[in-house]
Amino acid sequence: MSDNNYIFDIEGLNVRYETEDGTVYAVNGLDLKLGYKKTLGLVGETGAGKTTTALAMLRLVPSPPGVVECAKLEICGQDIRSLSAQELEEVRGKDISMIFQDPMTALNPVFRVVDQIAESLEIHEHLSHHDAQEKAKELLEMVGISRSRANEFAHQFSGGMKQRVVIAIALACNPKLIIADEPTTALDVTIQAQVLDLMKDLKEKHDTSMIMITHDLGIVAEVCDEVAVMYTGRIVEQGTLEDIFERTMHPYTEGLFNSLPNIADRQAMLKPIRGLMPDPTEQPKGCPFAPRCDYAGRECESEHPALRSVTDTHKVACSAYDRQPDFLLERRKAR
Ligand SMILES: Nc1ncnc2c1ncn2[C@@H]1O[C@H](COP(=O)(O)OP(=O)(O)O)[C@@H](O)[C@H]1O
Ligand SMILES: [Mg+2]
Repeated sequence: MSDNNYIFDIEGLNVRYETEDGTVYAVNGLDLKLGYKKTLGLVGETGAGKTTTALAMLRLVPSPPGVVECAKLEICGQDIRSLSAQELEEVRGKDISMIFQDPMTALNPVFRVVDQIAESLEIHEHLSHHDAQEKAKELLEMVGISRSRANEFAHQFSGGMKQRVVIAIALACNPKLIIADEPTTALDVTIQAQVLDLMKDLKEKHDTSMIMITHDLGIVAEVCDEVAVMYTGRIVEQGTLEDIFERTMHPYTEGLFNSLPNIADRQAMLKPIRGLMPDPTEQPKGCPFAPRCDYAGRECESEHPALRSVTDTHKVACSAYDRQPDFLLERRKAR
């Protein structure tokens, strides 16, 4: 039997893309699990492997060029790897919903919005056409769209409203897990805040677990209970919100914080992380962050640090941390 303490449990996930320019190592030996009703923030710069991880969870990595290996992939107590195509379709529509950055990837321009929500209810919840239409209108109202607009087409809606329709579709069948991939990146700031509030509300009302993929630590602070920081397809630090924000252990995480605009002190200089992410077609021998790290020592260039537990909740993959656990704290005090 599966371990039912987790909404999902992934072990040893590797994804590579075989391209004409070489093999891109997108996700490398990733382990990740999450307790029920929790929201996990998956953060990292563009190219870190966040979207690929989400796609792999739903077996949606395009193949070719994608090649996926995974030792364990359980979601809602089911071994996702063993499901047939039809079973997978069921799970995707009903147990797990995904919200993408661009709402138009999920919306069909030639269907009325109410029909797009109702369709999912007819297929997965086996509602009659009439009941599905009624429930779809209720869902629209729940996400703040008047039922008088139910018969319009997606292109008649603003960006924020489209994303709300996508959220209504995602919530239609009461999924146990929502995977939201940069759901508000394409929206302007006020609308972004409204959509996030809505997601937070609904998540609490329906006890849904969620993965919030974002490069924005402000969003993480607002909606997440736990955080996993990804770099070059690996998790380099993971913990509760407090662990990550107040007891930062990895220099890369610290770099992400330093490159944020400081709201309290608008004069403060942004300090972007120096250098670039390494070429994803190369597998470095040492720590992939070492070339950009202010704290790297000789062992960082030669040995790959494992992700290890420092406390019950907090994990880090950093030799500099292992050598001198308080190095970031001391550095911060000195500032
Ligand atoms: N379909 C694809 N073909 C080839 N390379 C890809 C494909 N999708 C993603 N990649 C590469 O995989 C790496 C991880 O990408 P991605 O998962 O999109 O990261 P993120 O979502 O964190 O920005 C990047 O180097 C990206 O260029
Ligand atoms: Mg992405």
